[in-house]
Amino acid sequence: MALVKVTNLRKVYKTGELEYEALKGMSFEVEAGDMFMILGPSGSGKTTLLNCLSGIDDPTAGSIWINNVDIAKLSDDEKTKFRAENMGFVFQAYNLIDVLTAKENVALPLLARGMAEKEANERAIEVLRAHGLEHVIDKFPSQISGGERQRVAISRALAGNPKIIWADEPTGALDTKTSFMVMDFMKELNERNNQTFVIVTHDEKIVKYANAVLRIDSGQIASFERFERKKSREDVLEGEK
Ligand SMILES: Nc1ncnc2c1ncn2[C@@H]1O[C@H](COP(=O)(O)OP(=O)(O)OP(=O)(O)O)[C@@H](O)[C@H]1O
Ligand SMILES: [Mg+2]
Repeated sequence: MALVKVTNLRKVYKTGELEYEALKGMSFEVEAGDMFMILGPSGSGKTTLLNCLSGIDDPTAGSIWINNVDIAKLSDDEKTKFRAENMGFVFQAYNLIDVLTAKENVALPLLARGMAEKEANERAIEVLRAHGLEHVIDKFPSQISGGERQRVAISRALAGNPKIIWADEPTGALDTKTSFMVMDFMKELNERNNQTFVIVTHDEKIVKYANAVLRIDSGQIASFERFERKKSREDVLEGEK
């Protein structure tokens, strides 16, 4: 069953008199448990697509169903609630808040969802521990490495146990070794919890982690490949040898 079903998606940006069609009609499906990657050159519409899928931006035409909900039919309040309950976000520049510790950063979206502070902090500690980040719980972003920061950001995205995690260039600011470490981490979570990841990237090195690859160019689908069997993390690591 499709977790995300996109049909004839179009996005036209209007700047004054000018119109620019960033997405020219796309249809595809993301299945539950996918490690789904969206690739394409700079300006091809990757971020626009991710913003439409995640409800950050509204498409001009077409439909997006997530978990059997037509997100265009939701009011702003319902959309905010739907996003908080079903989605997690990871961005290139971590988006961690400098004046908050790792624990507080992870707890933040839980508090925003109305969880009590004590419970949110406990959950944050539990998630960071489960992700091998016990040593950074009370540290500030400036006191931990880039890879650790990105893993904290991923922990934050996962803390509310979302069905789907959107990531825009999650390895964009990392070196090769750290990129693989962060991808290993996501792959492990993907397998362990069957959580769905939709990852926008222009980093060909990390494509081997995906089981579905959508390539776009100039706002259109250039190719789509889905592997028969979901690649396990072991297969990916085996390929390294
Ligand atoms: N708010 C906006 N208003 C007008 N045009 C926009 C806006 N945002 C993006 N665009 C245009 O839409 C096209 C797609 O942009 P988008 O940010 O989706 O590309 P991208 O594939 O994510 O690129 P990159 O790899 O550089 O991040 C680009 O030509 C861009 O200039
Ligand atoms: Mg982009």
